[in-house]
Amino acid sequence: MSTVLVTGGMGFIGSHTVIALNESGYDVVIVDNLSNSKTEALNRLRMITGKDFRFYRADCRDKEAMRTVFEENKIDSVIHFAGLKAVGESVRMPIEYYDNNINSMLTVLELMNEYNVTDLVFSSSATVYGESEDVPFTEESPLGMCTNPYGWTKWMIEQILRDTSRAYPSMRIALLRYFNPVGAHESGLIGEDPNGIPNNLFPYISKVAIGALEKLTIFGDDYDTPDGTCLRDYIHVCDLAEGHVKALRYIATNEAGIDVFNLGTGKGTSVKEALSAFEKACGHKIPAVIGPRRAGDIPVCYASTKKAEEKLGFRATRTVEEMCDSCWNWQTKNPNGLSDKAE
Ligand code: NAD
Ligand code: UFG
Repeated sequence: MSTVLVTGGMGFIGSHTVIALNESGYDVVIVDNLSNSKTEALNRLRMITGKDFRFYRADCRDKEAMRTVFEENKIDSVIHFAGLKAVGESVRMPIEYYDNNINSMLTVLELMNEYNVTDLVFSSSATVYGESEDVPFTEESPLGMCTNPYGWTKWMIEQILRDTSRAYPSMRIALLRYFNPVGAHESGLIGEDPNGIPNNLFPYISKVAIGALEKLTIFGDDYDTPDGTCLRDYIHVCDLAEGHVKALRYIATNEAGIDVFNLGTGKGTSVKEALSAFEKACGHKIPAVIGPRRAGDIPVCYASTKKAEEKLGFRATRTVEEMCDSCWNWQTKNPNGLSDKAE
């Protein structure tokens, strides 16, 4: 059985990917420092899968702790999710973001090299395309100027991995550029659990729908789009998780080197469309007002999915309705996320 080290595996996308890996017959070892997740996620993973995953509470920058993980397990491949991801916070705390995200990746790479682990899947983001308005984004679209330190960490790690691939030709690396991951596992046992007031649309709508926040502010309705609000490529986190399994299989069965794939649906959904889909899911009107545009937002962002379809055999199948239903199911079953559970 092939063993995958999942860093950041207690987080939103990581935990859903652990389930997908388990369903596909992989053995999983999780490393997470719990800076943005709770140990309760491990119990939830057990409830969903019936399995006790090996879990190390460790920081990926801690070389000795990471060496223990590689020493105690025969790791065949790594999916590196661990990282800080809040755009606004990264503007206020650039040093922490560069340190955490870049040094985590470098330490993991050092240990992979030391233990002869060649296969790596990295969580990148569509944010590396910058503010270009040339949609859909293909993997060949030029990388843009990022608008915040978080985005630059993804941009820089992509470059680090291209250089690493050149210097270590036996490595097999997939860079996955996610569009907008949303939704939750159908069980409602795991989902997105942001700290404080959410910045992203779906968690924000969800909090308004449950009455924890007063109203949604729609950031601008004067864009050059059909209803004036921005279009984004929302992808169900369970589809995204399956994309990681396909990427792992792809690199394991293809020539060494580095390749990059968009993971999205190829379809743009407006803020107003997302809101009305969520109203259908929760069965009531959600208070919303139109506010000014948010700095740094581009009008339209969606993926070309051709390369992922052709090379990975990956196609997202879940609809925006399923994204809203699953988000609402998770929200109503866990009104305070996982935070009311004992650590
Ligand atoms: P998340 O915060 O839910 O999960 C990240 C996990 O990494 C958390 O459990 C956190 O505790 C852990 N972590 C952070 N720094 C660590 C460190 N130094 N050592 C060990 N663990 C550490 O975020 P997510 O939404 O699941 O995102 C996973 C990855 O995907 C991140 O790299 C993120 O940047 C990337 N990504 C996310 C989105 C999105 O919209 N959610 C979009 C594009 C890319
Ligand atoms: N929006 C609102 N009101 C809100 C929150 C969001 O109107 O309260 C709008 C935004 O203006 C945008 C859309 O909803 O038009 C989606 O916004 P999100 O913040 O959910 O997502 P973004 O597309 O801005 O950002 C996401 C990830 C980033 C990543 C970026 C580019 O959160 O990490 O995609 O890939 F960098």
